[in-house]
Amino acid sequence: MEIEQKNQNNNNFEDVMELFEIDYVYENKPIKRTIDEPNVKDKQSLLENLKSKILNISDCELKKNSKQIVFNDGNPYSPIMIIGEGPGQKEDEMGKPFVGDAGVLLNRMLEAINIKRPNVYITNVVNYRPPNNRKPEPSEINKYSVFLREHINIIDPKILILMGSTAMEALFGQTLKISKERGKWKEIIVNQKSYQTILTFHPAYLLRQPDQKKHSWNDLKMIKKRIDELKINI
Ligand code: URA
Repeated sequence: MEIEQKNQNNNNFEDVMELFEIDYVYENKPIKRTIDEPNVKDKQSLLENLKSKILNISDCELKKNSKQIVFNDGNPYSPIMIIGEGPGQKEDEMGKPFVGDAGVLLNRMLEAINIKRPNVYITNVVNYRPPNNRKPEPSEINKYSVFLREHINIIDPKILILMGSTAMEALFGQTLKISKERGKWKEIIVNQKSYQTILTFHPAYLLRQPDQKKHSWNDLKMIKKRIDELKINI
């Protein structure tokens, strides 16, 4: 009888698995346990989808009285998302948020902490200009906060900056006071995802009340510190 020569290298591994009733194998290759970030195309198409939902809003006084939608500006892949209140006259004409006087101040505030505006992502609570620049009504804030929440989930920022009381009310409700809550880090859960959030004064308010700029400077320094702590490249 011929004896078959065997060594461990010509063992058939499937036989061994069967023999030991193994139904798993160890692999050298690491298992990827993180969920993939939405890829470039996904994020753009999610944003397009959200924009068309807002374009299709019916029965909205803001939409009826405005020239066009003001949806966003900046880099959708930015780790920093800024939320204002709603478009003013210039924004309504140009279709972009923060392009008027408040926008000029916002740009300078960002530059003060070494951030270039095109590197952040900017939107507003309401995407159509309120008549005569009035503050959006609570019912309008509620209506648009559904879209805003979806917007936050799509952008998925590391830091969320809420500028002014309308942005605060859209995400925290009507009970807080911006003068008490600004300059504190808060965690906010939006559709089961947590975001590090800071409330700060709106630039338009700072234009009316320049003596409050000192508080905003403190808030900006806190934001810069957090950017450094999180090693955010911006
Ligand atoms: N104020 C806002 O809140 N948003 C703008 O886009 C412009 C002014």
